[in-house]
Amino acid sequence: MIILSIETSCDETAIALVEVKKSGKKAQFKILGNEVATQIALHAQYGGVFPMMAKREHSKNILPVFLSVLKQAKLYKVDKKILVNKKLNDTLSVKINSILEREESLKEQWGEIMPTLKNPKIDAIAVTTGPGLEPALWVGISFARALATLWGIPVIPVNHMEGHVFSIFPTKSKKFEIDTKEKIIPALSLLVSGGHTELVYIKDWMKYKKIGETRDDAVGEAFDKVARMLGLPYPGGPQISKMADMEREQSGSKPEANFSPILPRPMIHSKDYDFSFSGLKTAVLYMIRDLPTQTGLPKDSLNERMKAKIAREFEDAVVDVLTTKTIRAIKEYKIKTLIVGGGVSANTHLQKVLKEKIKKEKLKITTHFPVKNLTTDNALMIAIAGYFQYQNKKFTKNIAKVKASGNLSL
Ligand code: KG4
Ligand code: ZN
Repeated sequence: MIILSIETSCDETAIALVEVKKSGKKAQFKILGNEVATQIALHAQYGGVFPMMAKREHSKNILPVFLSVLKQAKLYKVDKKILVNKKLNDTLSVKINSILEREESLKEQWGEIMPTLKNPKIDAIAVTTGPGLEPALWVGISFARALATLWGIPVIPVNHMEGHVFSIFPTKSKKFEIDTKEKIIPALSLLVSGGHTELVYIKDWMKYKKIGETRDDAVGEAFDKVARMLGLPYPGGPQISKMADMEREQSGSKPEANFSPILPRPMIHSKDYDFSFSGLKTAVLYMIRDLPTQTGLPKDSLNERMKAKIAREFEDAVVDVLTTKTIRAIKEYKIKTLIVGGGVSANTHLQKVLKEKIKKEKLKITTHFPVKNLTTDNALMIAIAGYFQYQNKKFTKNIAKVKASGNLSL
């Protein structure tokens, strides 16, 4: 079957097309097209993502991204004659216009382009319905509803977090395989992104139990906020990571003797698997305030080296908490497979420390991280999760049932 997938939960407009063949317990995937249009440059000007602004951008970009993916898949075929049969007043067009009512740019572009597009052979549409920013989610959902109505095919609602869990399967090649018989269960997923910080126990294939989560800021959000305090551009995670790595290179694995500001490790010893990062963020704020005085520098004069030291201290604290709790959960739940996903899973220090601790503790587990371009939001992971939901008969032709759910949980 061929699945089109759509992801618009935050600041990436993403579409993918995959072909899936089932053979026994194996599913063979072929990526026909995959594209992400990022809004980072826009949101960087404001230091964060504003939902209504994200929505407008999705609405502008989603059709061009879709057409580009169709072209990659060689499924883009236009026929000017079709236009005659699809005048705006036919019932289908009326229906679609009402579906796209609130997506102005998309509706306009749809009217110009879609009537000439030959129906591609696509069997189902997977779309992220949550968690995420509701106005942003709605653009993808409205687009999915409109396409499903036009082509008469079902929609598969997909949980964004389940997408991140499945993001570890693709390799760098266009083809990959998922063997559902493989003994990867019980698995644990550490999901770390701009909106989430969760430890999820996977007791059976596609059966999830959240065992811990952040009580305040998500870890990616903390990276972004600390970066902002240091005057680094959005998104801050990669910037902090780069500076911290540089600092480790310069001063060795231990902080210098005359500079050892140890930040707190919030909730590291709590008995549960919850996290908290807002106190850490405040501690960084005080550190930035007090450091010039402590080191005899004029106020507000943090130099690059000091910023790097702070970045490194912050990253050390975050990684310490995340890895300590993950290791404890691996032991308690007798985990066989660790799956790390979400934007922050790209963090090289997190990857390194996790692997080191697993080795030191002699844990017999397999650890998976997504390939680099799949750590952040993408539609390929939505297509994979969508395929398995489809196998579980979780799809519908009743498009009114497909709704955005900002706080959807695994
Ligand atoms: O998964 P994602 O693309 O979007 C959400 O669903 O939130 O994650 C984006 C987050 C941002 O907060 C970004 O700063 C963070 O992931 N991030 C990183 C790194 N790369 C991205 N954080 C730390 N280190 C990185 N290398
Ligand atoms: Zn995400």
